[in-house]
Formats: sequence, structure tokens, C-alpha cells
Amino acid sequence: MSGTQTTYNDKVVRQFAVMTVIWGIVGMLVGVIIAAQLVWPELNIGPWLHFGRLRPLHTNAVIFAFGGCALFATSYWVVQRTSHVRLWGGPLIPFTFWGWQLIIVLAAITLPLGITSGKEYAELEWPIDILITLVWVSYAVVFFGTVAVRKVAHIYVANWFFGAFIIAVALLHLGNSMAMPVSLTKSYSVYAGVQDAMIQWWYGHNAVGFFLTAGFLGMMYYFVPKQAGRPVYSYRLSVVHFWALIFTYMWAGPHHLHYTALPDWTQSVGMIFSLILLAPSWGGMINGIMTLSGAWHKLRDDPVLKFLITSLSFYGMSTFEGPMMSIKTVNALSHYTDWTVGHVHSGALGWVAMVSIGSIYYLLPRLFGKTEMYSTKLVTTHFWIATIGTVLYIASMWIAGVMQGLMWRAINPDGTLAYSFVESVKGSYPFWAIRWLGGVLFLGGMLIMAYNMFKTMAGGKTEDVPVLAPAGHHA
Ligand code: HEM
Ligand code: HEM
Repeated sequence: MSGTQTTYNDKVVRQFAVMTVIWGIVGMLVGVIIAAQLVWPELNIGPWLHFGRLRPLHTNAVIFAFGGCALFATSYWVVQRTSHVRLWGGPLIPFTFWGWQLIIVLAAITLPLGITSGKEYAELEWPIDILITLVWVSYAVVFFGTVAVRKVAHIYVANWFFGAFIIAVALLHLGNSMAMPVSLTKSYSVYAGVQDAMIQWWYGHNAVGFFLTAGFLGMMYYFVPKQAGRPVYSYRLSVVHFWALIFTYMWAGPHHLHYTALPDWTQSVGMIFSLILLAPSWGGMINGIMTLSGAWHKLRDDPVLKFLITSLSFYGMSTFEGPMMSIKTVNALSHYTDWTVGHVHSGALGWVAMVSIGSIYYLLPRLFGKTEMYSTKLVTTHFWIATIGTVLYIASMWIAGVMQGLMWRAINPDGTLAYSFVESVKGSYPFWAIRWLGGVLFLGGMLIMAYNMFKTMAGGKTEDVPVLAPAGHHA
């Protein structure tokens, strides 16, 4: 048969890997800008660059552009390597790349213009939603098509996580985006009132569970064993925590709606499932970290492994914090405060961004025919800057959040409020400045990565490499 069937399709992996770094810089730059706007309000310029318009641009850019490109790149690499076949799907493959980039560009244009459905993490209007559906279905066809034509009986656990992420995101997107269009740029949700809120947070929480977790666990299950040169610690644990995780996540959404019009029993169900969620989450963390058994010394001088293992520590931390925050009495303090924002970024910077950065560092030299990155030293520098940036970000938000929560509930002996809201804003300024500094450091690390990437790419070879025969077979 033709030569194309005997090589891996790494072109699309290369495209998505490079765009991960580019969109990471763009999304985090917007993050740094909105962090600055909270410290220096005069930076809110005109309607287009106002905090309210740029905030959804930040979340969309970091989650769907940066995180999304990282997930496409790694899933396409992993499914080919573990199935021992070339990516299946012909023209659908480049369509997923160009279609996804078009969606990102459309988001970057419409959100600052104020065109939004108003649903958090699902702000894009209906024509873009339809495009997302087309790209996502193509992605599913390519991914599962490749799994279907695999040359090995076994489906490696990383593919289970990527597969669950693809199916769940399709379901969530279709369920939550149901809307009645009134013009090309405006639509109204088909759900109303508290049902709309419930559907929105069923979506929102599972966006965390599947877009920001399951896919990245897929990444973890391939790149941690590869970089450590050790087999996965426990295959049985990976299967058990996989099913427990995907079952449990689906029920936890109501913890975003404590003390609202949502029926009280629904809130309690959300809280209980969130508490249970600690176990499968830690199952994944333990499996990843224990994969290093016998190879701990490699952590000393391998910055890629440092990124991967540190990401798992942050994953463990944020999935301990989340269940605690889902307890109603804790949430009564944390909700509406910066504690939530700190929790978000301990997951987003510490887990999602770090595991992506580590995986992309693994891929880049291999995608450009090199044995290693242009500078390993710069990878180490990036690691430390990113870690310090993350710690500054989340520690400042914890302090600010708890302070805000306590100030809002403090009362005088006569029952009046001890502080006005503005006093809590004033007290938050120093912490917002520290968060901004943490963001600047994290962004600085990404710029170092981009420099290192372009240097690694220079003069690199981009020919497709032959598909490896499965162990015990001959090509
Ligand atoms: C066991 C796992 C987790 C549980 C039970 C959990 C629980 C929670 C709770 C209770 C809130 C606060 C809701 C509120 O008061 O409004 C929250 C917010 C959030 N969490 Fe988690 N969390 C978990 C893991 C994660 C991870 C790993 C990430 C990121 C990668 C993450 C991202 C978010 C986001 C983005 C929000 C904010 C949503 C919003 O209000 O816009 N969570 N989570
Ligand atoms: C340089 C790095 C970053 C900076 C400086 C930054 C800054 C910010 C700021 C200032 C906010 C608004 C907080 C508020 O409304 O009070 C925010 C929200 C958010 N960011 Fe980031 N961010 C960064 C990276 C990331 C990354 C990598 C992700 C995801 C992978 C992410 C996900 C989010 C999410 C989900 C929210 C909404 C949180 C919520 O509604 O509770 N951020 N970010």
C-alpha cells in the first residue's frame, strides 16, 4: 500500500503543539491584563477592552485555545503511538486544526464586541456553537476511527481518558448550548430560570471534569511513564479510578449553586458527590506520582519530569480543596470570594498548564527531528518561574478570599455589618497586586518557552516517521 499508511501523521501534532504555546501566551497575556485592571481600574479602556469583555476572552483563550490545542496535539500523538497506526480520517484531520483555529479567532473578535450568550465558559453565540459541533464530531471520528483500526488488541488507558473527554464534551456542548436564535449574533437559551442555572452548572462543572481534567489525565498516563521510563504504577487503579471519576463528576454540578433557588436536596446531592470525588481524583494523582517509584533521582535534573510531577501535586491539592469548598458551610464563606479564583488557578496553572507544558516539551524535539530542546537550562528556568508564579497567585487569592469572606460576615454587637463592601475591596488591593505579579512570572515562563521552541524548530526535520510495529510483531 502507499507510503502514507506506514508513517505517523505528525504534521497535525506539530501544528497543534506550536499553537498551544502561541495561544498560551495570548490567553495568559489577557489574564495579566485583567489582573492589572483589578489593581489599576483606569486600565479599563472603552467598552471593547473593559474587564467584563476581556474576562471571558481570557477564560476562552486559556481553556479552549491553549488547553484545547494541547489536548488535540497530545491525543493525536498518543492515539497513533499506542495504536501503532497512522491517524485515521483523511481530510477531517486538517479540518479539526483549521476549524479549531477559526473558532478561536471568532471568539477573539466576538467577545470584545460584547457578542455573548452570557453562559460562563459557553459564551460563544450560536453560529460559532454550530462550528464547534462540526469540528468536535470530526475530532471524535478521527480519534475513534484511529482506535478502531489499531494494530493491538488492547486500548491503552490514556485513550480511555481522551475518549471520555471527547464524548462528554460533545454531550455537554449540545445539552447546554440549546438556544433560540433571534439574529445572527443573539440567541436565548431554551431553558429558563433555575433549570437554566442547573443545566449551565452541569455543563460548567463537567467542563472542569472532562475538558480540564479527564483529557489531561490522558496526557499524564502517557507522558509521565514515558518521561520517567517506568510503567504505570497500577493498571488496575487506572481502570477503577477512570470509571469512578467519570460517573461521579456528572452529579457534582450543584455545588456551584449552593444557597440559591435550586432545591436544597439537589445542593446536598452535589455536595455528597463532590466529597466522593476526592477518592477517584487522588487515585489518579497517586498512580501518576507512584509511577516514579525507583526513578525519583530523575526528578533532580529532568525539568520536563519536574513539570509533570509538580502538576500532579497541584492536581492533588485542588481536588482536595474542591471537595472541601463544596461543603455548604465552607462554601458559605468561600463563595463569591477570591478563594474560588485561587482554587480555579491552582487547578488551571498548577495542574492544567503545567502538565500541558511538560507534555509539549516532551513532544517538541521529537516533532522537529531533534534529540532534545535547544536549551534544557531554559526549561529548568521556566519550571521555577512557573512554580513561583503559581504559588504567588494562589496564596494571595487564598488570603484575599478568606479575608473578604470574614469581612462580609463580620457584625457589630448591635447586628449591623462591621465593614462596608468597599472596605473589603480596599483590603484586597495588595493581594491583587501580588496575583498580578504571579501572572507576570507565569507569562514570562511562557515567553521563555516560545523562544526555546523557535530555536528548537530552527533547521529541524519535519518528515513523517515510520509507524512502529507492535511488540512481538514484524513490520
Ligand atoms: C474533586 C475535584 C473538585 C471539586 C469537588 C471542586 C469543587 C469546586 C467548588 C465547590 C467550587 C466553588 C463553587 C462556588 O462556590 O461557586 C469550584 C469552583 C471551580 N473549580 Fe473546582 N473542584 C474540583 C477540582 C477542580 C479542578 C481540578 C479544576 C481545574 C482544573 C477546577 C476548576 C474550577 C473552576 C474553573 C471553578 C469556578 C467556576 C466558576 O464559578 O466560574 N476545579 N470547584
Ligand atoms: C498568567 C496567567 C494567568 C493570569 C494572570 C490569570 C488571571 C485571571 C484573572 C485576573 C481572572 C479574573 C478573576 C476575577 O474575576 O476576579 C481569571 C479568571 C479565570 N481564569 Fe485565569 N489567569 C491566568 C491563567 C489561567 C489559565 C492557564 C487558566 C486555565 C487553564 C485560567 C482559567 C481561568 C478561569 C476558569 C477563570 C474564571 C474563574 C471563576 O469564574 O471563578 N487562567 N484569571
